[in-house]
Amino acid sequence: MPMEKVELVFIPAPLMGHIGQAIELANKMTTQFNHLSVTILIMKFPGDSIGTKYTNSLASSTLDNRVNFIHFPPLPLDSFTGYKSIGELRNMVLDRHKPLVRDIFSTRSTTHRLAACIVSMLCTSIMDVVNEFGLPTYVFFASNAAYLGAMLHFQLLQDKYGEDVCELANSDSKLAIPSYVNPIPPNVLPFPITDRYTWRTRILPAAQKCREAKGIIVNTFSELEHHALCSYDDKTPPVYAIGPILKPEPPAKNNETLQWLKDQPKSSVVLLCFGSRGSFSVNQVREIATAVERSGYRFIWSLRRPSTDGPKGFPCEYTDFSEVLPDGFLERTAKTGKVIGWIPQQVVLSNTAIGGFVTHCGWNSVLESLWHGVPLATWPLYAEQQLDAYQLVKDLGLAVEITLDYKYGNNDQKLVPTEDIENGIRRLMENHNNVRTNVSLMKNKSRMALEQGGSSFASLRSLVDDFSLIS
Ligand SMILES: *[C@@H]1O[C@H](CO)[C@@H](O)[C@H](O)[C@H]1NC(C)=O
Ligand SMILES: *[C@@H]1O[C@H](CO)[C@@H](O)[C@H](O)[C@H]1NC(C)=O
Ligand SMILES: *[C@@H]1O[C@H](CO)[C@@H](O)[C@H](O)[C@H]1NC(C)=O
Repeated sequence: MPMEKVELVFIPAPLMGHIGQAIELANKMTTQFNHLSVTILIMKFPGDSIGTKYTNSLASSTLDNRVNFIHFPPLPLDSFTGYKSIGELRNMVLDRHKPLVRDIFSTRSTTHRLAACIVSMLCTSIMDVVNEFGLPTYVFFASNAAYLGAMLHFQLLQDKYGEDVCELANSDSKLAIPSYVNPIPPNVLPFPITDRYTWRTRILPAAQKCREAKGIIVNTFSELEHHALCSYDDKTPPVYAIGPILKPEPPAKNNETLQWLKDQPKSSVVLLCFGSRGSFSVNQVREIATAVERSGYRFIWSLRRPSTDGPKGFPCEYTDFSEVLPDGFLERTAKTGKVIGWIPQQVVLSNTAIGGFVTHCGWNSVLESLWHGVPLATWPLYAEQQLDAYQLVKDLGLAVEITLDYKYGNNDQKLVPTEDIENGIRRLMENHNNVRTNVSLMKNKSRMALEQGGSSFASLRSLVDDFSLIS
């Protein structure tokens, strides 16, 4: 008997990485399961020019296989006031979309057979709107299983045992968090947990909503995070590890940088790239430059100018890198490296000349690097990246440490000195180290997980079976 056709609605956060993953997940679901179609609601983030360019490119692209988009009109940045961070602005943007989302569900629930709604971990406040239509909601957790565990653990400490979670940042001893193998030093607890306002207004409510969800879909795979996936308490909804889901990237146009990279020996180039929100002070840029130069390794460095709005804005591009680099740096390294602006990261990571990746440890970047078998060196900046870095170095043996507790936007943040960066790069690029071996095994496992019979393949199937039971 053919299965009844049903539709899923995805609500990804208005961030390029999240939207890209939603599309990839939708493609996987509709290709593997003929009875599913997916509609993705696309919000735009005011002020994020790279993201907006990306979402606009989707408007003109055509996907066949039963995946379609509903684009919301862009909102002017100057119609928002009184926010102190990108995260707060995101919540305001989300609130502004709630009536529009309600309209979509009220029409669609009469014209389509809706089976479920999948909401980004950053959009859980919209679950109340979806609930008005009696639809089961699942959370798509774009970060890792260990951080999901940390959020749920701290939520329980707060709600059940009345602990003041933000105070834990001041504790004298390491903390046991069930989803991590090793005890966690308080200095790697990330800002979303230690900052009282962020914790109370965004992270705690998101953790509570995760517990209410019908299930939580995590972008990870069990071979990578077995410990974390087995660590949840019995009040946690079913967790589906279906990753790695990577944002598809359009084929890159060849140019000088990419041509140069193709001509370099295997595993000889270090990539330094810190995500769409990564940037550094001029003094820190100089420490990095000196370290890169002293290490003697070939490099590609994506270097971006900090936002003039601090944590409220997005970085932009330099018109002239020599403004911030040490005198003569570009001339001396002209043959060994390239300093460039924003890059579509996978295009570079997938090249076999890349031998190591200095990264902010955003989870997308981590998954991409493992997928291409590139060892990591940690330089966390924001969100939960300090915990991710700690897990990669201490629990998983997949990264070399440069820093674990660097926090972007922290007024007291010390510079990471040249010596630490240079050492990190040297250890990262060594030919024979445990990290390189572990990463190359994990590359294989990440690919096997998605194949027929693999762990994530099976997990996706059980998720889809779950939809069919409800619809
Ligand atoms: C070359 O292509 C890469 C990848 O598409 C891009 O990031 C870079 O800005 C381009 N231009 C130069 C001069 O490197
Ligand atoms: C990484 O490699 C080392 C040495 O081969 C090993 O001791 C360690 O357990 C590995 N880590 C993981 C997570 O496999
Ligand atoms: C992974 O390794 C196994 C065992 O060595 C091999 O049979 C398999 O083809 C590899 N798979 C991928 C996707 O690399």
